[in-house]
Amino acid sequence: MSDILVCGISVVDAIARPIDTFPAPGGLRLFESLHWSTGGCAVNCSIALSRLGLPPRLVTRVGADFLGDFVIAELTRAGVDTSSVVRDADRPTSFSFVAVPESGERSFIHTKGASDTICERDVPEALLSASRFVFVTGAMLMNALDGEPTARLLARAKAAGATTLLDTVFVEGLDRAEWRRRVEPALPRVDCFIPSEAESRAIAGADDPGAAAREFQRLGARRVVIKLGARGVLCVDETGVESLVPAIKVDHVVDATGAGDCWSAGFIAALSRGRSFHEAARIGNAVASLSVQAAGATKGLEDPALLARVWDLP
Ligand SMILES: Nc1ncnc2c1ncn2[C@@H]1O[C@H](COP(=O)(O)OP(=O)(O)OP(=O)(O)O)[C@@H](O)[C@H]1O
Ligand SMILES: [Mg+2]
Repeated sequence: MSDILVCGISVVDAIARPIDTFPAPGGLRLFESLHWSTGGCAVNCSIALSRLGLPPRLVTRVGADFLGDFVIAELTRAGVDTSSVVRDADRPTSFSFVAVPESGERSFIHTKGASDTICERDVPEALLSASRFVFVTGAMLMNALDGEPTARLLARAKAAGATTLLDTVFVEGLDRAEWRRRVEPALPRVDCFIPSEAESRAIAGADDPGAAAREFQRLGARRVVIKLGARGVLCVDETGVESLVPAIKVDHVVDATGAGDCWSAGFIAALSRGRSFHEAARIGNAVASLSVQAAGATKGLEDPALLARVWDLP
């Protein structure tokens, strides 16, 4: 097991295709294929870390139901340490129904379920002191952990000597006060804050990623990386120096879902192997570029030969 601890949301996706229209109330429509898959940023990142040879310990919550069994079986198959996954007797496993049309954007219907109740108590002291990197991911979707509780958890992690990282999820329709309430208290305890561009805009209220990053540093984050999709990432180091680390060019993007989680896995794996901040960002881009070339968050990370190449970037 590596010395990386990932704490955050897990989801089961039921992916149905093709679905171009939904039935009228009381009606029935058929679709051809149904595929079950794990998802959620903490699960995606954990599986990606395993594929990179650094299987992490994962703290998440699943229900005491068959979907929870499925999440644990898939994580175990990937080599992730699931001994700290909490089975919640009162809530079902977080679930998304994903309708994929013949063409165009897929639609999600999601219920938050057990992930919403992940809390500070789920992360025991022994786990923090065994970890050199503590990554909390899925902020905005963890009602019992977002805000002050995340700040306390990351403070404990730092007291135990770990490097701390935080990532968020984009949730539509929230006002800025809600974003800030759920993220700001933790920033003084964050060594590296790694939101996406849309999330950074929602929290900081600034369109320019550089301005948003400066605001996060003013609020206490030591380093900031803003994920810019096909453009790569904007890195701001602890002295305020900004650099754009461009994405790897990809001929054919198949599915960008989970690319950010694979980026985080590559970044943390590289830091844990002693690479510099900028080298780690480049390796994050390389791992994410594999993710976008296959359907599913971590499907593109299954070829060990392709993965080995991310360590030898010029
Ligand atoms: N079209 C693309 N071509 C090459 N690389 C890409 C592309 N899209 C994304 N990436 C890589 O994936 C990284 C993360 O993508 P993105 O900024 O979309 O993260 P995100 O919004 O957090 O994603 P998610 O939360 O869905 O996992 C980018 O910084 C880049 O390295
Ligand atoms: Mg993301």
